[in-house]
Amino acid sequence: MNLNTWLKTEVNPWRHNMSDNKVNITINDVLHSVDEGRMLIEITDELGIYIPRFCYHEKLSIAANCRMCLVEVENSSNALAACATPVTDGMVIDTLSHSTKTAQQSTMEFLLINHPLDCPICDQGGECELQDLAYAYGKNNSRFDLQKLTKPNDDLGPLVSTDMTRCIMCTRCTRFGSEVAGIQELGTMGRGEASNISTFVKQTVNHELSGNIIDLCPVGALNNKPYRYTDRTWEMDQIESVSPHDCVGTNLYMHVKNNKIKRIVPMQNENINETWIADRDRFGFDGIYSEDRLTTPLIRVNGALIESSIEDSRRQLNTIISSLLQSKKTDKIAALISPSVSLNEQFIFSNYLSQLRIRNIDHRINQIDFSGDTLDPLFPHLNIELKTIGEMETIFVIGSDLRRETPLISHWVKKAADKGASIHFMDIALREYHFPISDYIISDTESLVENIGLVVKAATSIAKMDVPQYIQEQLNILTEPTATHHQIAQSLFTKTNTLLLNGLVSRSHPNFSLIRSYINILAALTNSNLGELTSGANSVGAYITGCIPHRNLLGQSSEPGLNALEIASRHHDLLILYGLEIDDCLYDQLLSETIKGSKKVVVFNSFMEPVINDHADIIIPINTTYESKGSFINLTGQLQHFNQELLLPNHYYSNEELLTDLVKERALDTPNFNDFIKDLESFIDQSITNRNYIKEFPVKTSNSNPVETTNTFNMYNIDPILRRSKPLQQTKESKSNT
Ligand code: SF4
Ligand code: FES
Repeated sequence: MNLNTWLKTEVNPWRHNMSDNKVNITINDVLHSVDEGRMLIEITDELGIYIPRFCYHEKLSIAANCRMCLVEVENSSNALAACATPVTDGMVIDTLSHSTKTAQQSTMEFLLINHPLDCPICDQGGECELQDLAYAYGKNNSRFDLQKLTKPNDDLGPLVSTDMTRCIMCTRCTRFGSEVAGIQELGTMGRGEASNISTFVKQTVNHELSGNIIDLCPVGALNNKPYRYTDRTWEMDQIESVSPHDCVGTNLYMHVKNNKIKRIVPMQNENINETWIADRDRFGFDGIYSEDRLTTPLIRVNGALIESSIEDSRRQLNTIISSLLQSKKTDKIAALISPSVSLNEQFIFSNYLSQLRIRNIDHRINQIDFSGDTLDPLFPHLNIELKTIGEMETIFVIGSDLRRETPLISHWVKKAADKGASIHFMDIALREYHFPISDYIISDTESLVENIGLVVKAATSIAKMDVPQYIQEQLNILTEPTATHHQIAQSLFTKTNTLLLNGLVSRSHPNFSLIRSYINILAALTNSNLGELTSGANSVGAYITGCIPHRNLLGQSSEPGLNALEIASRHHDLLILYGLEIDDCLYDQLLSETIKGSKKVVVFNSFMEPVINDHADIIIPINTTYESKGSFINLTGQLQHFNQELLLPNHYYSNEELLTDLVKERALDTPNFNDFIKDLESFIDQSITNRNYIKEFPVKTSNSNPVETTNTFNMYNIDPILRRSKPLQQTKESKSNT
């Protein structure tokens, strides 16, 4: 096996089971039966026997270049690197012997020769692997009294700071680039003592997962630039959290001091994000400290906004609603809610409107075509675990800027590609991916529908199966599939583990419903798994809680109200916006005009924006999810809780309390969230298990909406928090999209 194949093999055959054979080895005088061929360091880690290391990382290939893991092995003339030594029968290892200690101490002495003595001002202080191991394995004195080497720094952009003199050349960062990100933004330059880590042509690091090199770097060479020189690790509390920026549900730790988030790092979850997080999950939180943060309720009096109390603003909203109810104008009330607010808020908000018989509510602010609402699944989802994407043999992605929409799902697709899966794309633009792609069909917006139809047609001809007459009739009006359409269909047929992913470009397409029907039929024909990506962190929750006009709580059907596009296109007697701002919406211009033209506008938001400042009648500040407790449901239906009550100054209420008080003030039934949660998990399980693929076409298959699908997706401008994050707004991604 050559090096390239080895690098591309996610499961390194020298590291993991080479066979089912067990061998007996002795470690520190204790006999163990272990898998033959696995690396010694993996075995000792599992047995809880610590061996120091720098270059070894369980998610990366083995470099064996730091030599910190040297251990004494019987009958070997030298100490051996535990990270690169496969175990064999009869091996006798001593991790505590004098010889092992001497080897490790010598390595440490060598590594410290050129390492600067700047721990007191280094941001890695307190969490530096070199510092820790120097205390445990280092000598008290250095015999090196010559001048230490210094190395030039590169400007890697606004997110990652460099102090390359601290680098110990472990190459974790460069291996991350080539093996995980798929693009080698950093590389090793020079040889011997002149070697250093740098970008090849003075580039910045721009990959959507690049910030992970900060966590990988065992010393203070690569650090978190915005966090730099601010706080010490031991001063902060660590709070578990979930990313509010996409439907993946990435697990995070927030590091908090004095009620303020200082930085965010990954929380390991092998089923969702492994040990990685996207840059927007790491740096996005900065947006919550934006200067236009709302902290005081505001009410418009004689054309001017004046400060109010939360009680008064709540009372005024209920008064407006009462007068509209009295004049039987519930159809003149409409509400849009963000797909990224917590399940708890969605539940109470939807329940409040539902008890008032207000059905004009939606969260699908990036969807144009609603003609397939009656065909909607109970909630859009992916029917397999995220980690299972990495096991797929064929993946067909339709209408998606996958790396920007969901960086972590793109990562799982890359893992499948690296293992040899056939990856096929069909999209309205050519986008850059750093893994092998078998086919890429680029079509204009209109012909995206026909192209997916042609893959279905190719599939029916390969399967030689009769499909229902109404499907055949629809396929008959299409042209003939090309070799590429056949190739994709063939790949879906011949492989066992196959997946179709329907992306956000498709969801915002004027013919989304027809595309979705085709994709469902294709999934049914080829027995493929199916995943529908959704905007925001909690679109699944919004479906389940009834924040859609055609369903109530837990999928109960209801008299349909206005959908998001209709709400944004008409003037209302009362328009309520909860947790979203105009730029979140695909039809921002329409929504802006509706805000200007509606009689009363009530906004619950965390930030001020110009149209709201000029036209809203009541503005009620709410906490962001970074400051709340609540839950999200990710696209695999996984319910994840977060509990971070970091109230801002002046905020003495949580969003949940605010909404509950709104309900109580009208003497409505107080919704019981705990009862809802009891039913929720079985509802989700049953819905995913019993899901039937859509095998019908929407009644109306063409759409003449005034809104166009966009093929540009700025991943740092998808919600109010990200577009206010200063570090992210300085990135190449943001600058190239402004
Ligand atoms: S910069 Fe950090 S991660 Fe990269 S080689 Fe140097 S020490 Fe290792
Ligand atoms: S950890 Fe084994 S050589 Fe670096």
